[in-house]
Amino acid sequence: MAAPVADRPGNSGQIVYATQPVSPSTDVRLSVLFEERIPYFSERVAHAMDELLPQAGEQPERLHKAMRYAVFNGGKRIRPLLVYATGECLGVDVSRLDTLAAAIEFIHTFSLVHDDLPAMDDDDLRRGLPTVHKRFDEATAILAADALQPLAFAVISGMGEVATHTRANLVKLIADACGSMGMTGGQAIDLAAEGKELRGAELECMYALKTGALIRASILSVCLLADGTSPEYFDALDEFSRDIGIAFQIKDDILDVEGLTEVIGKTAGSDERLRKATYPALFGIDASHKRCAELLADGLNHLAPLGKDADPLRWLADYMVSRGS
Ligand code: IPE
Ligand code: IPE
Ligand code: MG
Ligand code: MG
Ligand code: MG
Repeated sequence: MAAPVADRPGNSGQIVYATQPVSPSTDVRLSVLFEERIPYFSERVAHAMDELLPQAGEQPERLHKAMRYAVFNGGKRIRPLLVYATGECLGVDVSRLDTLAAAIEFIHTFSLVHDDLPAMDDDDLRRGLPTVHKRFDEATAILAADALQPLAFAVISGMGEVATHTRANLVKLIADACGSMGMTGGQAIDLAAEGKELRGAELECMYALKTGALIRASILSVCLLADGTSPEYFDALDEFSRDIGIAFQIKDDILDVEGLTEVIGKTAGSDERLRKATYPALFGIDASHKRCAELLADGLNHLAPLGKDADPLRWLADYMVSRGS
């Protein structure tokens, strides 16, 4: 299975634009498989983020450089891809999804910058490059992440072509996903659980918050944008998103154990060093693979009502648990 082009640790941190300019959706043949259009989607979101971020030369320069460094240092762009895949599933034109995809990637990036700080996971390497606090300094990393988060909400609020009430609903959905009952809460539980034994349900609850919440929001935000998504489809996508969100974090934990630093672009074995409560640490590597496969199967089952339109999401879910980095 081909990995997304952005899935390459150690790249230069520059945005590399495709040889073809980003074309409007009408130019992209929907008959081409989603997985073959990953470079196209990655370019679209990179282009949108480039437009939405302040220029690196804008004052305060160091802050803006750090924000751009954090965003354009590679990354698989899984959450934007989920936005585009859900958009295809629900028939939302790709041009209506770029800003949303960019905003969600800003939030994800902010979470990574904070996650790597000495006060949290104290990691030196991210996407094959020095983490933001290593490349700049700790205060700049904190501030760059602090600025990426409100930027996400500012750009969603400014989606002029979207009805005001829908914009408000998007802000609420994504704010909830990254707040204390979502990603940030999950991160707090993760830190408090270092060196502790958690039961399976507790561990999965932590995963659902720290990682699953934003993955779920990436999918459900498109349901809101689509207008008129049936309750049946909404519930199916909700259930699917919950399963793959947890599976994605278990796979991340597996890669921390089985992956090589040069391949995963993060220091392998970091979880063991920090005595993190992870699926492999608590239940073993075999059980982790098994649980990941189970969650994927459950997630795919939930997509049944959506028929073939959900094929992009099926491919992406499979990639999320079979990826090598
Ligand atoms: C890493 O996320 C952190 C988790 C929530 C597991 P990704 O694996 O999506 O990181 P990037 O964006 O591709 O670097
Ligand atoms: C991070 O989980 C989840 C976030 C919300 C950022 P990890 O701490 O396992 O992510 P990595 O392995 O550093 O990317
Ligand atoms: Mg962490
Ligand atoms: Mg970490
Ligand atoms: Mg990890």
